[in-house]
Amino acid sequence: MLKLIYAPGDGIGPEIGSVALKILNYQLDKYGIEYSITPILFGGCAIDAYGTPLSDSDLALIKQSDAVLLGAVGGPKWDSVDASIRPEKGLLKLRKECAAFANFRPAKVYDCLKNASPLKRSIIDRGVDIMIVRELSGGIYFGERSEGDHEAYDTEYYSYAEIERIIIKGFECAMKRRKKLCLVDKANVLASSRLWRKVFDKVASDYPEVETSRMYVDNAAMQLACAPYKFDTVVTSNLFGDILSDEASVITGSIGLLPSASVGEVDIYEPIHGSAPDIAGKNIADPIGMILSVAMLFRYKLNVDAAADEIENAVSAVLEKGLRTADIYDNDSIDTKVKICTTTEIGDAILNELEQ
Ligand code: IPM
Ligand code: MN
Repeated sequence: MLKLIYAPGDGIGPEIGSVALKILNYQLDKYGIEYSITPILFGGCAIDAYGTPLSDSDLALIKQSDAVLLGAVGGPKWDSVDASIRPEKGLLKLRKECAAFANFRPAKVYDCLKNASPLKRSIIDRGVDIMIVRELSGGIYFGERSEGDHEAYDTEYYSYAEIERIIIKGFECAMKRRKKLCLVDKANVLASSRLWRKVFDKVASDYPEVETSRMYVDNAAMQLACAPYKFDTVVTSNLFGDILSDEASVITGSIGLLPSASVGEVDIYEPIHGSAPDIAGKNIADPIGMILSVAMLFRYKLNVDAAADEIENAVSAVLEKGLRTADIYDNDSIDTKVKICTTTEIGDAILNELEQ
């Protein structure tokens, strides 16, 4: 039986989460998958309830489960709590404890949302379909650190084995896509990046069909803005992947659309956006990032590609009909069929497509 943990978190998390859950339940039932879904408090709401963003008993439950479906965590309410128990700390602990080392962040531009991209139409028309494969349980996020008033440091540490396993994920992913893999690093400055290059070159020999490239992260940031069509699959470190995935996401029109899968011992599926406390409780948040994370759960955890395809097609169909939450910025609203909808309306419209 599939054991899922549902951690909606803070801010808009519970609103988008309840919409995503409906889609999850519907598809699990449709495909006859037996499952249990256990809700937990995680993030700021868990700090309020238990004084910690992730309680030991919930962590124990998670470790016995197959995957976590996450909303978003954090908010100004918890900005002043002790750094050691902040909601973000809970998220990092969760990733580490789940050994969720491979984070897949796709960014593609829907035809009907081309006008919502901040990039020029001439660039977007060349197509954007990128997968960022981000290392998620190592690097500067978890390296040795010291925090003093007069000096402070963080360490970018990577072992050969940590690099190798994420690079293999990058190649496997590229094989299922357009067979192009770009390593993004800062090998002209960082010793750790030079080790990434060595491992990349070694692993590349096992995947002769994949066309490889190597790019410094500063250049990659620039190329994403002026020539995103050059990228297919990108593999990179934790910090570089964090930064580049936000940049890639905004090209698509809204960060609210983008899902992610973090794969390891226990998988984590979550939208890449934050908890958006400014719009929480208004039923206006975009649920698509979380709904597409459910699709990724079917693809990556359950290997039921058909269920994932159906969800993705339903999302496309709803967007194609002009239904959108307000975050999807349209810089020339010549498209008169666009209708601004609430979170629940978008969820119902997607469910409706699935039911047809
Ligand atoms: C993300 C977020 C997190 C990260 C934060 C909230 C710790 O920005 O998932 O991209 O930096 O990984
Ligand atoms: Mn981020």
